[in-house]
Amino acid sequence: MTGARAKADRFYSFLAGLALLGWSSALLSAAPGAGFRITPYLQNPSETAITVTWLSEDDRPGLLRLMSGQGIEIRQLRSLPVLARALEYQAGEMIEPDSGLARNLPYLHQQRIEGLEPGGAYRFLVEQGGESAGGQFHTPDKSKSSLRFIVFGDSETEPESAGKFTPWPGAGDAEPERKYLVDQETGYRANLELIRGRSPDFVAIAGDLVESGGEQRDWDEFWRLTAPLASETFLIPALGNHEYFAGPGALGQYGPEASRQAVDRYLTYFDLPANNSGRQAHRERYYTVNWNAVTLVVLDLNNGTPQRSSSDTNWFLLGDGEGGQAPDWKPGSEQYRWLEQALEQAQQNSAFTFVMFHHCPYSSGVHGLPPGERDGEDRLSGRPLRVLTPLFMRYGVDVVLTGHDEMYEHSLVPGQEILPGGKSREHALHVYDVGVGGDGLRGPISGLENPYRVFLAHQDAPEIRDDQGVLVDGGKHYGHLEVNVTASDSGAWEARLDMVYLFPVAGEDGQYRFERRLYNDGTLLVSQPE
Ligand SMILES: [Fe+2]
Repeated sequence: MTGARAKADRFYSFLAGLALLGWSSALLSAAPGAGFRITPYLQNPSETAITVTWLSEDDRPGLLRLMSGQGIEIRQLRSLPVLARALEYQAGEMIEPDSGLARNLPYLHQQRIEGLEPGGAYRFLVEQGGESAGGQFHTPDKSKSSLRFIVFGDSETEPESAGKFTPWPGAGDAEPERKYLVDQETGYRANLELIRGRSPDFVAIAGDLVESGGEQRDWDEFWRLTAPLASETFLIPALGNHEYFAGPGALGQYGPEASRQAVDRYLTYFDLPANNSGRQAHRERYYTVNWNAVTLVVLDLNNGTPQRSSSDTNWFLLGDGEGGQAPDWKPGSEQYRWLEQALEQAQQNSAFTFVMFHHCPYSSGVHGLPPGERDGEDRLSGRPLRVLTPLFMRYGVDVVLTGHDEMYEHSLVPGQEILPGGKSREHALHVYDVGVGGDGLRGPISGLENPYRVFLAHQDAPEIRDDQGVLVDGGKHYGHLEVNVTASDSGAWEARLDMVYLFPVAGEDGQYRFERRLYNDGTLLVSQPE
């Protein structure tokens, strides 16, 4: 070994040591303006391969050093930078001169790492333009007996989230004008911090990651806040209507070309599993992730046909299947046929099947109203998606994960599963709206009945206050669903689902800190071996 090489190895052992001490995703050295636009984040896990993505300020290749869990270097990979043309700022975006936001296009580095060990633990470090940043991950393994993942929706990041306090209506019709205790950015940051402390295997986001999918500054904000978490766990996203939304007014709203460009930003950032659709427009919009005993099927149900009918989940988006338009999902469509195959495989191969998409089919909120534009109707309704329930039931889908209505609501829909041999058995489908990631904290629509509802934070977690009127427990807050899957000694699998809320406690300085609390709505699923 040469002296220089030995010195370099010692340097990287030192960095790996910092990583072991919890500095894993920190930026370890800095030369402002020359290195990362977005620090490295993890995607697309399989038993033997994962993707590390980062964006740089200039076109220099980066160097990715892959290390074992103990920090021993295994491999070096040099990245191929690609100009990220889709990430152009729109002329109409409001960018303050001193905001620190850049207008020049960054370069995308998407590094697939293959040949990994199933269940292996790894660390990595990326050097880019004089800066270094890293993280850690482990791959799925069918033989492993536990899995933890976390789900939320509706982060809806934008620079304006700082200082924006969302409406926080009280239970019943009390205090409709009341505002939440902390601003949206504080809520989302605290949510991510709590999630990071739980070390989940992956984090799934049920759509509406950003406020305007077409505004680059909203994506900048998403990654500024989320990339540190995503250096230690995989992000598994679904497209929401806001990813299709180009921006208000002249920014294009849901215009076909503007929506196409908006979704192009999302597709640029994410490397997602192939669905083998022959249509380019369907690429990476729906896919399957397998992790130990769980199959997670992710769908894009953001538009329905015919346009502006009782089957349409977005009355603003035109047509289907091309450009910015979402792939159709009605029975017989390509996505529906793909879904049926994916569910059949999951039923045969996995203890639990989870399906994630954005619009909630069973909701007490505004998007639970029927589709339409008259009073008592909604132009972004999730109700048309109930047509998929018989398919979910037939293949024994355990849990549907959604957002969109920005409430915590849990519904339980009864039905019959058809087993591979043709026999049927009673089955219950759990449907969750977990759209309380960091934007709205809405209440239900009065007079709207969701017959399958078993828990709604607004109603079922009453605010408890002390003699001074200080909130001491309950109420609706930002949060996420935590899922813990374990194998028991008997060979059965159990999945425990808990809705976590961030309870704000005011300090003497007037600042809030957040306690991790659970709503009284835990669910235990048990899957018996064949
Ligand atoms: Fe939404």
